[in-house]
Amino acid sequence: MSEESPELEARLAEQDELEPAESFAEQANVSDPEIYDEFENEWPDCWRQAADLLDWETDYEQVLDDSNPPFYEWFTGGSLNASANCLDRHLSARGDEAAIEWIGEPVDEDNRTYSYEELHREVNEFAAGLREMGVEEDDVVTMYMPMVPELPIAMLACARIGAPHSVVFAGFSADALATRMNAADSEYLVVADGYYRRGEPLDHLGKANEGLSGVNHEVAATVVVDRLGPNNDDFGHGLTDNQYDYDAVVAGHSGAVVEPVDRDAEDMLFLMYTSGTTGQPKGVKHTTGGYLSWTAWTSQSVLDIKPDDTYFCSADIGWITGHSYIVYGPLALGTTSIMYEGTPDHPERDRLWEIVEDYGANQLYTAPTAIRAFMKWGTEYPDDHDLSSLRLLGTVGEPINPRAWQWYHQHIGDEECPIVDTWWQTETGGMMVTTLPGTKNMKPGSAGPSLPGVDAMVVDESGEPVGAGEAGYLTVEKPWPGMLRTLYRNDERFIEEYWEEYSDTDSDDPDDWVYFPEDGAKVDEDGYITVLGRVDDVINVSGHRLGTMEIESAIVDVEGVAESAVVGGNHEIKGEAVYAYAITEDGQEPSDSLRSQIESSVQDAIGPIARPERIVFSPDLPKTRSGKIMRRLLENIADGDKLGDTSTLRNPDIVQEIQQEATGDWSAERVSPPRQPHRYCDNLFCPPAVSII
Ligand code: WT7
Repeated sequence: MSEESPELEARLAEQDELEPAESFAEQANVSDPEIYDEFENEWPDCWRQAADLLDWETDYEQVLDDSNPPFYEWFTGGSLNASANCLDRHLSARGDEAAIEWIGEPVDEDNRTYSYEELHREVNEFAAGLREMGVEEDDVVTMYMPMVPELPIAMLACARIGAPHSVVFAGFSADALATRMNAADSEYLVVADGYYRRGEPLDHLGKANEGLSGVNHEVAATVVVDRLGPNNDDFGHGLTDNQYDYDAVVAGHSGAVVEPVDRDAEDMLFLMYTSGTTGQPKGVKHTTGGYLSWTAWTSQSVLDIKPDDTYFCSADIGWITGHSYIVYGPLALGTTSIMYEGTPDHPERDRLWEIVEDYGANQLYTAPTAIRAFMKWGTEYPDDHDLSSLRLLGTVGEPINPRAWQWYHQHIGDEECPIVDTWWQTETGGMMVTTLPGTKNMKPGSAGPSLPGVDAMVVDESGEPVGAGEAGYLTVEKPWPGMLRTLYRNDERFIEEYWEEYSDTDSDDPDDWVYFPEDGAKVDEDGYITVLGRVDDVINVSGHRLGTMEIESAIVDVEGVAESAVVGGNHEIKGEAVYAYAITEDGQEPSDSLRSQIESSVQDAIGPIARPERIVFSPDLPKTRSGKIMRRLLENIADGDKLGDTSTLRNPDIVQEIQQEATGDWSAERVSPPRQPHRYCDNLFCPPAVSII
């Protein structure tokens, strides 16, 4: 962590402090700063406050069972149902209020409002349909769906019958779908036939079918949502033998009532696959009691959600942000959650501001990459709209540079809305490090202190806290209710990935166990944490987490490529972009056709989001004497930075050669056909398609 980019230094130097407007603090759900001391003194009992936001079928006996670290259990002995908590309990008081405001991308079609009553009804009907197809408690149901309302409906229907869901981001490839279904032995799939991008209908079922052909066990049933109507005819997919039309399934169970299955607090609510250091995605397991308490409590205390609010998170439900903060957190609190299908620049670059104005959104939760794109587009787009309904702004997914922060604060929040910069991960289930907006000042560029009751620290290699202003590694020293419980069917990897680094793994004293999220960070004298980014082989492209190993293995799958190294390089809008170095086999000359094959291979294995920004062919990679690739040098080359120390290299001359190859005009070098826009991935959280930049 000793080397830092000049930008980072500038970012830290720019930091100043802003007080949230008094008008916000006065009405905030949490406004008493005492909460920090209170939670520290009463830990872990403080988390009763989170559990109390839910309705429990059976009261829990113990807040935390830490007898077998790191396999912690929360709210043990308790039981509840997530779907009942997100739906049934709101019916008497808020049955007619909107639960989901769904906005399709085409502007000339009808948007859909689902009241709690209507959502409850359809969830019940679909749950009955799933049961009839044979879905039983604990069967994993996979969803591979764009942003259509049937996605949260299917998730809640699964939760109702105790079947964990595994949602695969629709922008991922057919192969990625197959890998995830195989890993979870999932025999059920819910998909949509397509979706709209910039007004055009796009095929999705074709990709899903291709994925299904790679599943190595029998798939009992696939349910297909008809999103495209007659537009689907162009793609020519009929339903095959065990494929069912969603509308027919729901109509066939019209008025059905499915009793919510009583789930143990520790029973799995869902699985979400995410990228890690090795090529194999990790199946993060989240539970019913802990996860739901965590998302409800953070939605309430950080996003300041109240039942009467209309809340807008622009993420995709295919990632954890959408699970926690479009579906579970907001619906557990009985609020109105906006869900938008499309891109922020269709039909114009003011689409989000139009949505905020039309629906009177009170909160907006988005990603720095989107904010940087808005900045580039100019202030005329937000200026054209009345955004005065907004009360709070949030960001997530990657570090936000102070300039983007200030722009967001000024042009979207009119300097009145506090901004919460929320650090968390798929694994943490919900927010961990951020200001509580009614109690703390904001420092642009710094996420803030850890939440009350969350013990995040910045430590050095030996696990000792670093001094103020020094760089180190982020750790979480105490368990929390929303934490992942394990990696699905792989307890060993769970320990290796997250605990081994800073824990005494022979100990059964929970104080000896420390969670390592694999991020670098700094902390200042007020305890504000500035997250610097991943320290493992994971890169963050527009807030999307990608494993470099996964990309490398797709590259070496191409005939003629002997070896590859992938690193993240700086990118103005995306934050980081994929830079790939490829060594060709003897006798294989680098060529444009090889370049295109590499691009397609990555796209097929993972999805367009992982497609390299640049591919450099080189005769070798910089390696230490022990054969380890010096990625830092490859990053320097990608960023056009001064090179770090090359003296430990076995082949120091290679660096110059690669540099020469790389500093040629990368774009002029390419004569391969122009890129297709990233279809699904034109979405806000995706690497910007051609037209977003
Ligand atoms: C990684 C987790 C959190 C949901 C979306 C991404 C980075 C996340 C921040 C932030 C700086 C951040 C970290 C983290 N990250 N939020 N506010 N500031 N970095 O979830 O795909 O699991 O990725 O995103 O590097 O480890 P994910």
